[in-house]
Amino acid sequence: MIKIAQFKGTRGVGAVVALLAAQCCLAQVGEPSKPKGPWMDKNLTPDQRADLVLKEMTLDEKILLVHGAGMPGFGPADPVLVRSNGGGGFVPGIERLGLPDLNMNDSSTGSAGGSRKGRYSTALPSTLALASGWNPRLARDVGAFIGRELADQGFNISLGGGVNITREARNGRNVEYLGEDPILAGNLVAQWIQGVQSQGVIGDIKHYAVNDQETGRYFVDAVIDKRVLRETDLLAFEIGVKQGKPGMVMCSYNLVNGGWACENDYTLNQVLKQEWGFPGWVISDWFGTHSTVRAALAGLDQEQPNGRYFSDALKKAVESGAVPAARLNGMVHRILRTEFASGIVDSPQPTKVPDVLRGFKVAQRAAEESIVLLKNDNSQLPLNAATVKSIAVIGGHADAGVLSGGGSAQVDPAGGNAVPDPNVKQDDPLAIFSQVTFHPSSPLEAIRETAPNAKITFDPGTDPGAAAAAAKAADVAVVFVLQHTHEGGDLESLALPDGQDALVAKVAAANPHTVVVVESGGPVLLPWARQVSAILEAWYPGIRGGQAIATLLFGKANFSGKLAVTFPAADADLPHPKVPAPAGKKPGPMDGLMNSVPPFQAVYDEGLKIGYKWFDAEKKAPAYPFGFGLSYTSFAYSKLKVTGGSSLELSFQVSNTGKRGGQEVAQVYLSLPPSAGEPPKRLIVWEKVALRSGESKTVTMTIDPLYVSVFDSSSDRWQIVPGEYKVMAGPSSATLPLSAAVSLTGSR
Ligand code: BGC
Repeated sequence: MIKIAQFKGTRGVGAVVALLAAQCCLAQVGEPSKPKGPWMDKNLTPDQRADLVLKEMTLDEKILLVHGAGMPGFGPADPVLVRSNGGGGFVPGIERLGLPDLNMNDSSTGSAGGSRKGRYSTALPSTLALASGWNPRLARDVGAFIGRELADQGFNISLGGGVNITREARNGRNVEYLGEDPILAGNLVAQWIQGVQSQGVIGDIKHYAVNDQETGRYFVDAVIDKRVLRETDLLAFEIGVKQGKPGMVMCSYNLVNGGWACENDYTLNQVLKQEWGFPGWVISDWFGTHSTVRAALAGLDQEQPNGRYFSDALKKAVESGAVPAARLNGMVHRILRTEFASGIVDSPQPTKVPDVLRGFKVAQRAAEESIVLLKNDNSQLPLNAATVKSIAVIGGHADAGVLSGGGSAQVDPAGGNAVPDPNVKQDDPLAIFSQVTFHPSSPLEAIRETAPNAKITFDPGTDPGAAAAAAKAADVAVVFVLQHTHEGGDLESLALPDGQDALVAKVAAANPHTVVVVESGGPVLLPWARQVSAILEAWYPGIRGGQAIATLLFGKANFSGKLAVTFPAADADLPHPKVPAPAGKKPGPMDGLMNSVPPFQAVYDEGLKIGYKWFDAEKKAPAYPFGFGLSYTSFAYSKLKVTGGSSLELSFQVSNTGKRGGQEVAQVYLSLPPSAGEPPKRLIVWEKVALRSGESKTVTMTIDPLYVSVFDSSSDRWQIVPGEYKVMAGPSSATLPLSAAVSLTGSR
């Protein structure tokens, strides 16, 4: 049995659960039980059915449902864990009532590996990559595809749906989230969740709330003004919860304004349940529960992964009246009504081999829509496959595959890690946490397939002199650079590690046609940007990443991705010069998980100024602004019409003025009246418009009143401030050729 002290560099508790469960047990998928009782009447509403079951349940059965079955090595585990499907979490069903086992799995970018080694699922591009597609339809399709594979593998609950906004650009988990803008992130996560749930799988949104850094994540106290909280982090959740209707909300590890997120009456009871009317259940992050009575009364409905606080202790608290029986019934009702609403009771799904080929298509489309062209001097790209004679491919293990983010969301690479790490012992059950994983989609091979007549060499980039010589000998140099990020730790700096900047500079000096492909979890510093002729931000592009990169490089697909995060020019330009950390020794990735460590504060005094709002307000020029991304064609904007008054409506025209078809992410920003006290502008709506060469389309938009509102802390309400507004439209947050003034009458 593995003891906590043995963990090194751990990145995901859920994945630990899965691994350890696998070590101890032969996992089996819980068989769906035969329907019994009047609650099986599908004509009744989920709430009616939940109430009928509740009436039948004993106290012990209710308690069984409100906590996980445990985790070997981390306190007592229920023997029933042998039935687990090897995912991040397991709650046994109740056969006599026809309630199925709850098999949960992490699924940010695909059904995560968990403990069952050798189980294939499609590795989609990172979640931040998906955000860079700015395409709600794509987010839904990706969610639906992930939901399908979860179901095919025997899981009925997704633990994906990360939507913490990029407040801290160095956050190791930004890769699992949807960027820095709450309206963009909230809308995309909503579609993703709807997609997952369309497959009869219960969806999740996480990590609620303000879990915006990994440094000291188990004991960081996020200190944040109420209005700021509501207009930034919580706004993304508000949109995600209201539009996406997830079955579960996962409360986070950290504290918010002095109270643990999983026992926070304000965020859980008052905002999520009462104000937003969330009918599902609040599930704790793994070991994120800190009390019984306080947590139960504050709105936590289910403890994971075990029942340290919500098993015997909760039973006693209910018996003594410290937790009213009605509150326990409320917890159980929320779980049951979600089970009925989702279909997992009525239509348990058979397991299947995932549809690998369809997965390739979805993954490649997602990668092609999300890779961002940051620079393309003198139309260096697309490369012409028929005429290019020689290409030097350099660095980034491009001969083997593409990089992946690390942690509990890790999708097992097909055929094993494409770049095995000699420092990681493969028989170490914790290897998944410490190794840097590559998916076997080699950009080099894809480039060779795309340009079969060109001479294509590969240099690993370990010796900049040799790489420069290879570059000099070729028509074009394509350099791959990597920045690995993962759960459980943050970056010290956005700079590329391991001398890669020097490598690029040396190659660029040797060949004027140098193209750089960046694989990163989030923004990076590109100090050599002026010296190279083209730059692609490819994120972690998934199982078809190599093919997508080649397709775009050679113009077989057009770029349409735009940044969902600002790329700063320097770390020093960020709101916090360093990631907030406790005084003294840097916390290890497991500090505070099972032991009690005094909290430290991260004071988010940048207020509403997150991402581009910070750069705008502070008048700092970013290296690449939010919303930016080039295309192989060009677009023009015209004819902005805006109607104000009691609501905001607008229309404008986008035209493809270039020689080939493409998609443009047309963005609309709003400046509020000075009396609103807001940053200079905010994104309020966008549309991804597909246009043939020469084609024009008029986009018409009605703006959700929430997106033009400000949160008034004194009345605890959203309100529209009366006054003069400015509406701006264009291709990025920094280039907004159209603008119009409009007045709004204001409202509550
Ligand atoms: C992570 C969650 C994950 C859970 C279960 C935790 O460590 O923070 O995001 O869903 O483990 O694997």
